[in-house]
Amino acid sequence: MLIAVGSVKAAPGVTTVTTALAALWPEAQHTRRLVAELDPSGGDLAVRYGLPATPGLASFAASTRRTREPAAVWDHTHLVSGGSHVLPAPPAAAQAHAALTILASGPGSSLLHGAAANPGVALLADCGRLDPATPAEAIARRADVLLLVSGTRPDELAHTATRLVELAAWTPRPCLLLTGTGHATRDVERALGVPTIGRLPHDPTGAALTRITSPAQRRRGLARRIAALARALAAPPATPRPTPAGGPPAAVPGVPPQQVRTAGASLPGPPSPSAPASPPSAPPSAGEPARRDDQHSTSARKEPLS
Ligand SMILES: Nc1ncnc2c1ncn2[C@@H]1O[C@H](COP(=O)(O)OP(=O)(O)OP(=O)(O)O)[C@@H](O)[C@H]1O
Ligand SMILES: [Mg+2]
Repeated sequence: MLIAVGSVKAAPGVTTVTTALAALWPEAQHTRRLVAELDPSGGDLAVRYGLPATPGLASFAASTRRTREPAAVWDHTHLVSGGSHVLPAPPAAAQAHAALTILASGPGSSLLHGAAANPGVALLADCGRLDPATPAEAIARRADVLLLVSGTRPDELAHTATRLVELAAWTPRPCLLLTGTGHATRDVERALGVPTIGRLPHDPTGAALTRITSPAQRRRGLARRIAALARALAAPPATPRPTPAGGPPAAVPGVPPQQVRTAGASLPGPPSPSAPASPPSAPPSAGEPARRDDQHSTSARKEPLS
């Protein structure tokens, strides 16, 4: 399974979510988990895990000129605490961009896709910011799921709104994940006209953990939410939950009016010649009162996915 994770702007926690999903993936003992850092802005994982950047994305990209074997990617990874494998990108943006361009323009995206097609593999790709013309697009478009992470301040939501429809068409299963202490989930869903797959609490201490191994670490609010998210992503898509109805449509002032769609609409999937566009998977998430969610401790008590 290939899950592409990305954002539109403002560092909402893509790298944090991607690595934590791998660490907390269900049936971890039976699943080879690979975090591929496909961020053209340069990698963070080598520094965060104290790893050399080689082997990594650059060496794998170079190897794709010689090999057609998907399993070759594992030769360029590092095993980290918790049992995940990491394919770190070079920290320098120029090198990361160049490596990603080689992967995307050659057989590399097919090799990654092939590695992820193994039923015992969960490949989580940190695609960074999904700017127009990002070289990660070719790989993200072949993913089973695109997990778009967005903060919930008006400026963050306004940027997310501008790309939502386009990005939703990239994969069969687009999902929107909210973070931060801005607008309440219900207001965001109503303003964007789409359901979300969940909401992560603001937890700087939990986010800074590079190892989630002890039971106490797994019980933290952020880890519990990401574990629930991993279970939802690993399972077949659920019936989409309708967007909350009621209230004024422009609940988030920063979202341009043309992005506001009828309540009850779903995030449109890619166009299909024979069937209506498939909506994203959206497991039931706990409803939140229509209010500003500045007190994240309140929302942190709720489990958005179950
Ligand atoms: N849920 C959270 N609560 C609090 N802090 C968080 C949370 N998630 C991430 N952070 C912190 O925010 C910062 C940015 O996180 P991260 O690097 O994961 O974002 P990103 O979206 O990958 O950014 P970039 O686009 O720059 O790669 C880090 O310091 C991280 O520890
Ligand atoms: Mg990142």
